[in-house]
Amino acid sequence: MIQVSSFRRIIYSSQAVGEDGRSDHLAILRVSRRNNGMDGISGILWIERGRYLQLIEGPVDSVGDAFERIRRDPRHTDIQVLDDRRTDTPTFGDWAMAGLPGDHPAEAAERLRVLLRHAAPEVRHFFPLD
Ligand SMILES: Cc1cc2nc3c(=O)[nH]c(=O)nc-3n(C[C@H](O)[C@H](O)[C@H](O)COP(=O)(O)O)c2cc1C
Repeated sequence: MIQVSSFRRIIYSSQAVGEDGRSDHLAILRVSRRNNGMDGISGILWIERGRYLQLIEGPVDSVGDAFERIRRDPRHTDIQVLDDRRTDTPTFGDWAMAGLPGDHPAEAAERLRVLLRHAAPEVRHFFPLD
């Protein structure tokens, strides 16, 4: 029997545009949490030194739609997809988007380690955990 995975996980990085990356980040998180909560999507949005690193996962169609919107967003550029795959085992629980602001680096790094402690090696591999 052929089994088609019903979840999709995309990990990408991009360059934040503009000088006020911090307020962009908070505004993006607010909208993401609202939309993702309705769409069954979860993930992590990490920002470090002006670059975003985002993991989004959830139902195939929802993730496809969200990523189409994200791709067109002028608040970032140089979008590089690092990983895009179907999966049966979502990495996260049921939060809509964990945000990890760059202004408390030690705290953020610790949170990232906690969030990813059960994540598969192919997910952990992309994040700065050491
Ligand atoms: C780095 C980055 C990450 C984003 N992540 C998400 C996301 O996870 N979910 C989402 O709905 N929108 C995300 N957005 C925002 C979308 O590009 C878009 O502005 C938003 O989905 C539009 O929602 P609205 O039509 O409800 O205003 C992100 C934008 C950027 C720049």
